Amino acid sequence: MRIFSGIQPTGDKHFGNYSGGFRQYAATQEEGDAFFCIVDLHSITTAYEPDELRESTLDLAAMLFATGLDPDRSTVFVQSHVTAHAEAAWLLSGVTSYGQLGRMTQFKDKSERQEFISAGLFTYPVLMAGDILLYQTDLVPIGDDQRQHLELARDVAERFNSRYGETFRVPGGRFPKTGGRIMDLQDPERKMSTTGGTPQGTVLMEDPADAVRKKLKSAVTDSGSDVRYDPAAKPGISNLPEIMSVATGEEIEALEARYDSGGYGPVQAHRAPAAVALLQP
Ligand code: AMP
Ligand code: TRP
Repeated sequence: MRIFSGIQPTGDKHFGNYSGGFRQYAATQEEGDAFFCIVDLHSITTAYEPDELRESTLDLAAMLFATGLDPDRSTVFVQSHVTAHAEAAWLLSGVTSYGQLGRMTQFKDKSERQEFISAGLFTYPVLMAGDILLYQTDLVPIGDDQRQHLELARDVAERFNSRYGETFRVPGGRFPKTGGRIMDLQDPERKMSTTGGTPQGTVLMEDPADAVRKKLKSAVTDSGSDVRYDPAAKPGISNLPEIMSVATGEEIEALEARYDSGGYGPVQAHRAPAAVALLQP
């Protein structure tokens, strides 16, 4: 089985990336022939400093190895070193729907946050489709925020195959059962992210333990005192057992039962009982 995923070298990496990205990469490399790509060509769709990008590309490689990628097992490489990625993006743009690109929620979110909206930010999913299809990928381990992009890559492959004959394998996704979308600790309606989230609500991979503790302890929760996993109605409190489940491997239901003891009155509810509990031995 062929496995492929990509990760951008810009922006500090955080617990959301760990949950949807790093930990899945290390696990899936055991299942087949795995390729992990540092997608610097994706990073140039928003403002960047060339020197910083070069440095952060190497830093990200170090982090990929530190989180468990084995260079004897997996191929870890930089997107811009393989010129076929940029070429594939152009060739595939002829079988990509303009209307579908306009419906990408990541494009809508990101374009609201910048003054200069590049054409590359709009066509970014075509480059991602090229990344995946070039390797005849079966499985793409990613977080939930990439679901729509993967769907587009599948559509591109199918359209190409039906017009020009069977060429590309149509890839499937691997999304984590728990922790596919980790939310910001201060603004739990938004996903954890260094570009769209809050600094206090984003646990960075390289934060020292004290900073991690502080951020978790000050996590915002919801009204009411019960610890119930219900992401739609209680996004704040639900994020905490989700994080804990990713960190410890325990099931969400078990965590819910453990912490919903009724021992927390409504006045204390905002102190995030699950977060406090999380930090106790
Ligand atoms: P990026 O840093 O945007 O290249 O993302 C790398 C990987 O992390 C992708 O597979 C994303 O889906 C995943 N990811 C990013 N943010 C989150 C989040 N808040 N929760 C879960 N997965 C995430
Ligand atoms: N767009 C992805 C993200 O922001 C990164 C990415 C680029 C990717 N190419 C890919 C992920 C190919 C999986 C497969 O997270």
